[in-house]
Amino acid sequence: MKTTRLTTCANWFLDRFPLTKLWNEHMAHYYAPKNFNFWYFFGSLALMVLVNQILTGILLTMNYKPDAQLAFDSVEYIMRDVNWGWLVRYMHSTGASAFFIVIYLHMFRGLIYGSYKHPRELIWIFGMLLFLALMAEAFMGYLLPWGQMSYWGAQVIISLFSAIPIVGDDLSLWIRGDYVVSDATLNRFFAFHVIAVPLALVMLVFLHIVALHEVGSNNPDGVEIKKYKDKEGIPLDGIPFHPYYTVKDLVGVGVFLIFFATIIFYLPEVGGFFLEADNFVPADPMKTPEHIAPLWYFTPFYAILRAVPDKFAGVIAMFGSIAVLFLLPWLDRSPVKSVRYRGSIFKKALALFVVSFVALGYLGTQPATPSATQFARFFSLIYFGFFLLMPIYTRWEKAKPVPSRLTKPLSAVELIPALRAALNEMTVAAPIQGHQSHTFIGSEFRRKPNPEGIRNVLVRLAKKIKASFD
Ligand code: HEM
Repeated sequence: MKTTRLTTCANWFLDRFPLTKLWNEHMAHYYAPKNFNFWYFFGSLALMVLVNQILTGILLTMNYKPDAQLAFDSVEYIMRDVNWGWLVRYMHSTGASAFFIVIYLHMFRGLIYGSYKHPRELIWIFGMLLFLALMAEAFMGYLLPWGQMSYWGAQVIISLFSAIPIVGDDLSLWIRGDYVVSDATLNRFFAFHVIAVPLALVMLVFLHIVALHEVGSNNPDGVEIKKYKDKEGIPLDGIPFHPYYTVKDLVGVGVFLIFFATIIFYLPEVGGFFLEADNFVPADPMKTPEHIAPLWYFTPFYAILRAVPDKFAGVIAMFGSIAVLFLLPWLDRSPVKSVRYRGSIFKKALALFVVSFVALGYLGTQPATPSATQFARFFSLIYFGFFLLMPIYTRWEKAKPVPSRLTKPLSAVELIPALRAALNEMTVAAPIQGHQSHTFIGSEFRRKPNPEGIRNVLVRLAKKIKASFD
């Protein structure tokens, strides 16, 4: 091959930096289980959203002013006067909520496939540290627009620390840097939001991936693919991450971007869920808003806080509800990883947990009426019960036998005829009257819903779901 100036430069670089080795170790020769499904999109999506937040954050910082007198107006200036400022701001605010959606789904994947179990405990711990850092990042970022909700949300959360006996008052004073949320608080939150926490996030993502690549990925069967290797030492059930999963992940990115762009361009506030109406009013330390609630991603934990009558006990319960997640690898005593091979108790407990998490999330957005508080108590008990009783019910229940190799997922070639057959059963052909020239691909029949067929398909589906719970 003719050596050009470019290849000479590239070789000079590669002789001094192990780029090819790194690429091969972590992409081209990193063997991932071949049965990754929908749930495996969210790790790469989380990475992409992190990059989006950092890039749009840098652009916002160019025009934002971390000063209590100027902050609110500088955000309005970005929205109205800076070229494409509205787009950058909406990409950042929508990105914050998208980050939590993606991360909650990513964590849920870990829960259903037991990805936190031996030997992946450390991946989970780094993940939980990422989750904490993400919550701190979102909380501090929310103060920066200096709207009413920014101000009073921060006031409420920081004052929680004053419930801690003896040191509480001094601690909240130390966090705020003043007796109330003020310019000093805004400045330090800005410093943490734009540099300290993002650095921690990037470092933790690096550790998370290094730990993952040391032990290898789990999969929907919860089977270790490293047990069965060919003569060259390549797992028989593994495929190279690149090009197989780089290409597959691009499909996830495409679908995600359709939703992301739709929200940014058509409903950036999402009815007050992504951007609250009260935050379009400048912060007023003399006027408390009628109803203070955090953004949706904090509301399950906020509901747990309010469910407990004593303030200090509430703070412990709220932090406890997050801390308990760290212990998951040691609470789960089941011999199997994936939900596919667990007994029915785990499946029912998991379903109850999901219902309680969503219900708490809803209750956290609502005013704390007596009945809402009672419901929040009930769902908080289920939330904690799921984790604290786990050592008992996971040891107790009988698991199904786990295959030694990966099971074959239904391929698109098998799935399409099955879906077509179900569709045919749910509809009947009906002749089109008077519209022959407009018939669907030349046919003189149009398909109409068939109640009997729909009933049969639904009954079969319900039976299948029930069987998977037994
Ligand atoms: C900024 C946040 C995060 C990023 C960028 C991130 C990224 C990733 C990526 C790229 C993977 C490999 C691909 C995949 O399995 O989907 C992964 C795997 C994993 N992550 Fe995360 N993650 C984040 C947060 C978390 C959190 C909060 C948890 C849980 C507490 C977590 C738990 C895991 C686990 C258990 C695996 C291994 C899954 C398996 O092998 O089945 N991650 N993560």
